[in-house]
Amino acid sequence: MNPILINEEKCIGCGLCISDCVSSYLYLENGKAHASTAGCIECGHCYAICPQGAVTIAGYDCADEPVVPMTEIPSDTLLKAMKSRRTIRQYEDRAVEQEKIDKILEAGRYSPTGGNSQNVSYIILGSKQAEAEAIAVDLFRKGTSLPRRIEAFAKRLNISDDFFFKGAPLVILVTGSSKTDTGLASAYMEIMAESLGLGVLFSGFFVTCTKLSAKLRKLIKLPRGHKVRTCMIIGYPAVKYQKIVPRKALKAKTL
Ligand SMILES: Cc1cc2nc3c(=O)[nH]c(=O)nc-3n(C[C@H](O)[C@H](O)[C@H](O)COP(=O)(O)O)c2cc1C
Repeated sequence: MNPILINEEKCIGCGLCISDCVSSYLYLENGKAHASTAGCIECGHCYAICPQGAVTIAGYDCADEPVVPMTEIPSDTLLKAMKSRRTIRQYEDRAVEQEKIDKILEAGRYSPTGGNSQNVSYIILGSKQAEAEAIAVDLFRKGTSLPRRIEAFAKRLNISDDFFFKGAPLVILVTGSSKTDTGLASAYMEIMAESLGLGVLFSGFFVTCTKLSAKLRKLIKLPRGHKVRTCMIIGYPAVKYQKIVPRKALKAKTL
């Protein structure tokens, strides 16, 4: 199916959509842009670049939302804010507002995906959060099915009832088939959460539990072909950091 619809009355044949098309899907004929029959990855560049509003994409909400360039955020401020981000492990007893949850999910939805697959999903644990944490706590307390490295770690620790989610009000699992796509979505979401005054903890331990426990996988109703790639624990931080942490020296070279 051809998802790209070109309004011939509006098209001025400028060719901007054609030169920006990643899959050479568009072509010029009789001074108008045309779409081929196969190969479109639905990235929306043709829609976004058209100065005439001549392009729409079937199945998508083409809402005419104007762009806001990242240059509107001063880069020094952005870099310092990114360096000031910390993993949060202590949370206030305060719910996260739905508008903030929506913005975090929207940031994930707009992250890039390989081939524009957009194959990333989000599971908010919501009413199942306590049950999911209890299953994971049980797994860590027993310790027997854990990978050796984690088993030793779990033995040393006191696995409290809130060991995984630290009393935070919101847990979002980011799922997908691609580690890269889900990782990028998670990074976008973390930055959005921070900008909303929230703190985030990525729980690798909980992700491990979803690999080990069929009971947990059943509870969270994973989409077919997906794995839990990140577990984002989110809430209002009950801690404040004064300084940016030191880091190892940059490992980068120019060849
Ligand atoms: C993929 C991933 C998994 C993580 N898993 C855990 C975890 O299970 N428990 C935890 O306390 N911290 C976890 N963290 C947080 C890291 O320990 C933390 O990012 C690191 O110590 C650096 O601290 P910072 O994020 O404040 O810079 C994880 C971080 C990442 C990126």
